[in-house]
Amino acid sequence: MAIRKIRTLGEDVLRSTAKEVTEMTPRLEELIDDMFDTMYDANGVGLAAPQVGIRKRIVVIDVTGEDPVCLINPVIKSADGEQTGYEGCLSVPGKTGVVTRANHVVVEAYDRDMNKFEIEGEELMARALQHEIDHLDGVVYVDKVQEGKLYTNEEIEKMQEEE
Ligand code: NI
Repeated sequence: MAIRKIRTLGEDVLRSTAKEVTEMTPRLEELIDDMFDTMYDANGVGLAAPQVGIRKRIVVIDVTGEDPVCLINPVIKSADGEQTGYEGCLSVPGKTGVVTRANHVVVEAYDRDMNKFEIEGEELMARALQHEIDHLDGVVYVDKVQEGKLYTNEEIEKMQEEE
């Protein structure tokens, strides 16, 4: 297990379409372990393989710190409701934006044993699923932020104090 370098906005790999995983290999097992390590090390709630420079459809998410989930070849089967809130990304350090997304999604994916499963998410989990799956198609949340605006952490703190 190891911590990998997180790629940042401007690098081509973040704008490419990731390839489907057809079989689990020791290399991919190692990649998944490293993705969890890298995500926890960076205090993130989700990470997609392109963010560590690998063009594969693999995502790891843990929104509570106690529910690690690995999704391989994830596909959103249904989405409903709406939520608007702050969003950030480990590939866009120090920035936050306001993004509107579905409030509830159902996702079909494969686990690390390549068994198909379905996972449902609401609120933060729904947001994480949509955000990470976007990464697999070269989409970064900055493409979807309200008014195209990104804020620094200090600006967010100030806005919250004024509310
Ligand atoms: Ni991200």
